[in-house]
Amino acid sequence: CGIIGIVGTQPVADRLVESLKRLEYRGYDSAGIAAQVDGVLERRRAPGKLKELEKVLAGHPLEATTGIGHTRWATHGAPTEANAHPHIAGRVAVVHNGIIENFAELKAELIAAGRVFSSQTDTEVVAHLLDSELATGLSPLDAFKATLDRLSGAFALCVLISGEDEVILAARNGPPLAVGHGDGEMFIGSDGLALGPFTNKITYLEDGDYVLATHDGARIFDATGQEVARAVKTVPASAVLMEKGNYRHFMEKEIHDQPEGCQRTIAAYVDTLTDQTTVQGVDFNAIDRIQIVACGTSWIAGMIGRYLIEQLADLPVDVEIASEFRYRSPALRPNALAIAMSQSGETADTLAAFRHCIEAGMKSAAIVNATESTIAREADVVWPIHCGPEIGVASTKAFTAQVSVMIALAIAAAKARGRIDEAEEKRLVHVLLEAPRLIAEAIGLEDALKEIAAEIAKAKDVLYLGRGPMSALALEGALKLKEISYIHAEGYAAGELKHGPIALVDEATPVIILAPYDSWFEKSASNMSEVMARGGQVVFITDPEGAKHAPAGAKVVVTAPASDPLISALVMSAPIQLLAYHVAVVKGADVDQPRNLAKSVTVE
Ligand code: G6P
Repeated sequence: CGIIGIVGTQPVADRLVESLKRLEYRGYDSAGIAAQVDGVLERRRAPGKLKELEKVLAGHPLEATTGIGHTRWATHGAPTEANAHPHIAGRVAVVHNGIIENFAELKAELIAAGRVFSSQTDTEVVAHLLDSELATGLSPLDAFKATLDRLSGAFALCVLISGEDEVILAARNGPPLAVGHGDGEMFIGSDGLALGPFTNKITYLEDGDYVLATHDGARIFDATGQEVARAVKTVPASAVLMEKGNYRHFMEKEIHDQPEGCQRTIAAYVDTLTDQTTVQGVDFNAIDRIQIVACGTSWIAGMIGRYLIEQLADLPVDVEIASEFRYRSPALRPNALAIAMSQSGETADTLAAFRHCIEAGMKSAAIVNATESTIAREADVVWPIHCGPEIGVASTKAFTAQVSVMIALAIAAAKARGRIDEAEEKRLVHVLLEAPRLIAEAIGLEDALKEIAAEIAKAKDVLYLGRGPMSALALEGALKLKEISYIHAEGYAAGELKHGPIALVDEATPVIILAPYDSWFEKSASNMSEVMARGGQVVFITDPEGAKHAPAGAKVVVTAPASDPLISALVMSAPIQLLAYHVAVVKGADVDQPRNLAKSVTVE
């Protein structure tokens, strides 16, 4: 969920909404704002996207200068107006991100004390609890601290109290929260993006911090109640830029941004003059394995990394879905390097899994887009991707930038461990530097892919197959398609075809095979024949040599540019992304904000 709070001197409603627009990537099930109007709390809420709230506000404006706002990704309670934030109880209005784990017992206690609830959310208990503490005569700050002490779980909160017109209280326990410093105004937001329209002077709260913000500034306290000083950072303007330009959707723009995003990322890890890697911060001879933890598309980027690092650097790599890793008691060894792969740097499961590794004594590295994120701040080493903010929920340019870092790491580790010599390092770096141009060429296949998309859009199920790094990319192809077009899709290592998925093959199920002309090509081509022998309709995505050697009979052959196997996952990404994108467009789906998903999942 997204949170914004403003203790202002100017009208606040429009500004809250403007900020929520930037936070919609965190969830868009419902939205709402609350404000102090002459010492009384008023709120406007609406289920659905932000434009619904804007309609409500057009009919019923809110005139105030201090307020809080929220955009929701539902956890407890359906996305109805009653469950939309802010939640109000007595003198208190609350917006919340995360989960209050002990809400059921607190709710029972509050009901027993005569409190009446009007929603199914865990958030409402916070409003009631704080209102009860205030009723005992405590000051807002003390009542807030007393309330926080009773909550367990991971949460970020922002609070208004009626009669305290020029105060906002906020707390961070898990999900991130930032304080923005304005001119006679103060802001609270879930991230720097939310605060972008108002200020570039930002304080990132530490875990356990809580804040009392007034016009003049913010008093910050740590979990023990001690007042603390936290640094104010000046955030570069580029971090708060987000425009769609001439594109219809952010996803479309971000697919097209990839040559540049990869170029900037690659340039950060190689020296373009000497063709040598410049990966800093880790001695690859001091570790005996790499443990990557991640979720979603970031996990798939890690999987591609594993193929390359093991092959080039002879260094064992484990890649695991963070939500599994954190709860399964893995056998951890301190000599490993833990890598958290996360665009947002805030994914709750990834953070928890990463902390698990750090506690086990591992050295830690974060591959993130958001360099001020929690994961970045907890890591020994930060390896940023440099693709710019990613807004589309379905990750594209962050994915290829992550893969770019993986490739640079593989080369650097191979060189450091003496598995390749300087000449081979130069050759590989040179290959990597060609990737942005080849990605651009692959994007040039868009018109052909659009035509294929019109056919795929009719399917109910789609299979993606590949071998080697392409088996991971097959997972990504299937994930992209299901995320944004709601067509059921599965990605499989092509060798597994005969162990199950082949049973799904029929005339109505398109089978997309990713097979550049590499050492796996012959095997993938055999799988293609097996599919066709059973009436399957194959979309064969390959390169010029592969097109030449492919068995006849594919429904369509898409010829991507030829590339070295080191970078083929980068080059083959654009075709599968564009395919999913155009299928979603044909189906009229909401590409940038697909149903039920959120860009950044800060709950487990
Ligand atoms: C969500 C997003 C995905 C993303 C995943 C991990 O599910 O919808 O696109 O891959 O989270 O996010 P992260 O920020 O950790 O990379």
